[in-house]
Amino acid sequence: MAQSIAVVESVSRVYHVGREDVYAVREANWQIDPGRFIALQGRSGSGKTTLLNLVGGLDRPTAGTVRIMDSDTRRMSDRELTMLRRHKIGFIFQAFALLPVLSAYENVELPMRIAGMGGRKRHERALELLDLVGLSKRASHRPFELSGGEQGRVAIARALANEPALLLADEPTGDLDSVTGLQMMLLFSRIVRQEGVTVVMATHDLSVRDIADETFTMSDGVLSRWHPSQEEPSDPINTLVREAEAGQWRPPNREAPKQAPSGR
Ligand SMILES: Nc1ncnc2c1ncn2[C@@H]1O[C@H](COP(=O)(O)OP(=O)(O)OP(=O)(O)O)[C@@H](O)[C@H]1O
Ligand SMILES: [Mg+2]
Repeated sequence: MAQSIAVVESVSRVYHVGREDVYAVREANWQIDPGRFIALQGRSGSGKTTLLNLVGGLDRPTAGTVRIMDSDTRRMSDRELTMLRRHKIGFIFQAFALLPVLSAYENVELPMRIAGMGGRKRHERALELLDLVGLSKRASHRPFELSGGEQGRVAIARALANEPALLLADEPTGDLDSVTGLQMMLLFSRIVRQEGVTVVMATHDLSVRDIADETFTMSDGVLSRWHPSQEEPSDPINTLVREAEAGQWRPPNREAPKQAPSGR
C-alpha cells in the first residue's frame, strides 16, 4: 500500500476569541491517499479553510496529529514546514493571488526560481505547465489581460511548478461562472491522472461530487465522508452538470419555459 499523502488523527483546531472558544475543526480523522481528487464541501464557516491549512502545514492543530508525508507537523520547526510546503505542496487560493506585474509565464516560473531550479529546466517546465493548462498562447499576458478562468489555470500551473505531491485548492471556482468552474474541476481531474498528484479542493459547488474520486463534508467543524446514496435525486446542480457534459447547457438567468422544458 502506497504511503498516505497526509493523515489527520483526532484533530481539533480551536480559536480563542475573547472568552469564547471557536471549534473550527472538531476531532477530525482523515486519510489522504496518493493520486486522488478529493472534494471538501460545507457551508461558509464550517471549517474547510482551517482544515486545508492544517493539511498544508500552514497551521498546526490544537489537539491531535497531522502527518504530512509521514512528518508530524507539531514536531517540525517553522523552517522544516516551510521547506515541506515549498517542495511538496502546491496552493491555489480563491483569488488566485497571481502577481499582477508578472506575465503568466513569469508567475508559473517564480516558485521554481525560489526553489533554486536552473534556468533551462525552469523554462522547459514553465512552458510544459502552460501547455498542460491550455495557455501556451497566453504566456506573455499579465493577469489583468486574462479571463477569470485563465487566471485560475495560471494559478494551477504555478502550484504544480515544483512537482508537488499534494495540491490544495481553496474555493478556486468561487468567483467563476458555473461552466468555467466546471472546466476547472475537469482540469483538476485530468491533472490528477496525468501528473499523479493528489488534489484536495474546498468548494461550495455541488457538481464536484460527480467529478471527484471522494467527497467529504464539513458541518460546524465536523468532518464526514459523503456517499453518492445521499444524493437528492432531483438535485438541480447535478442536472446542470449532466447538461453541461452533454453540451446542452443553458446560460444562467435564461431559464427554460416552465411548461415546456424540452423547448429551445
Ligand atoms: N483566525 C481566526 N480566529 C478566530 N476564528 C476563526 C479564525 N479563522 C476562522 N475562524 C472561525 O473558524 C470557523 C471556520 O472558519 P473557516 O475559515 O475554516 O471556514 P470555511 O468553511 O473555510 O468558510 P468559507 O466557506 O466562508 O471560506 C468560522 O466560524 C470562523 O469564524
Ligand atoms: Mg474558507
